[in-house]
Amino acid sequence: MYAMNNAAIGIFDSGLGGLTVAREIAGLLSAESLIYVGDQARCPYGSRDADQVREYVQQITDFLVSQQVKMIVIACNTATACGLQAARQRADIPVVGVIDAGARAALAASKSGNIAVIGTERTVNSDAYPHAVARINSSAQVVASATPELAGIVESGLEDQMMHQTSDGGEYYHLAESYLQPLFEEGTKDRPDTLLLGCTHYPVLSQALQRAAGSDVAIVCAGSEVAAEVQQTLKDGDQLASKQNRPHHVFYTTDDNIAEFDQLGSKIFGTDLTDIRHLQLEGGKV
Ligand code: DGL
Repeated sequence: MYAMNNAAIGIFDSGLGGLTVAREIAGLLSAESLIYVGDQARCPYGSRDADQVREYVQQITDFLVSQQVKMIVIACNTATACGLQAARQRADIPVVGVIDAGARAALAASKSGNIAVIGTERTVNSDAYPHAVARINSSAQVVASATPELAGIVESGLEDQMMHQTSDGGEYYHLAESYLQPLFEEGTKDRPDTLLLGCTHYPVLSQALQRAAGSDVAIVCAGSEVAAEVQQTLKDGDQLASKQNRPHHVFYTTDDNIAEFDQLGSKIFGTDLTDIRHLQLEGGKV
């Protein structure tokens, strides 16, 4: 007889981006309940200093532990880079980040071992990705570049404006081009064959990013690899929910605009977010 645990999995991000990861987890583990926190009042994390982000991670970890989750997924690269160790020290439940999973996904996709990664300034400056890739394959080459304006486009629900070239009315397409063309210039030696989306907001923009990088570039993100790691962690600890469990997902935003979270979030998560609540954290809006 296996031990089972119908407690929820806690997941958090600075905002809506972590829903790209939550969607993969809900897809793979359909009996599991989720408690999601989007810290929209303090989004973006990517331009803040590391100590500040670590503090936010600790605060949200404490909240999720108080909700009796059975494990925590830091569905944010910036928060993983700055606070994974701190969260692990704080919580006596498993805590999984997205960076090692992203590195595994990129290495699995790349034939040449030349990988480009884009993320927030904080993630890129932390060098977390080159280190994570080197731990698995020391001969792979990683070029990392900060793309600070992309997460905001997703938070504002403006991804359609990025879909097309500027001449077709895509106001933000030039951003994708200006960020990616230097990384994928044709004919350059060691041109990457893989683009790792090192921010959980970016999968929402993958069509535009694919177009700007070139159709021969494999675009990968950590989501499905994270979901597999969550499954394995729960299995190893005999903590999977019972197959009969009827999951209930709760979504918290630290901002006031629940209607907007619902509208934008349900598109990213893929189904209606039926239970959205406001979460007031100490230090709230800054
Ligand atoms: N989703 C966050 C990440 O994966 C970035 C967004 C932000 O800057 O807050 O890094």
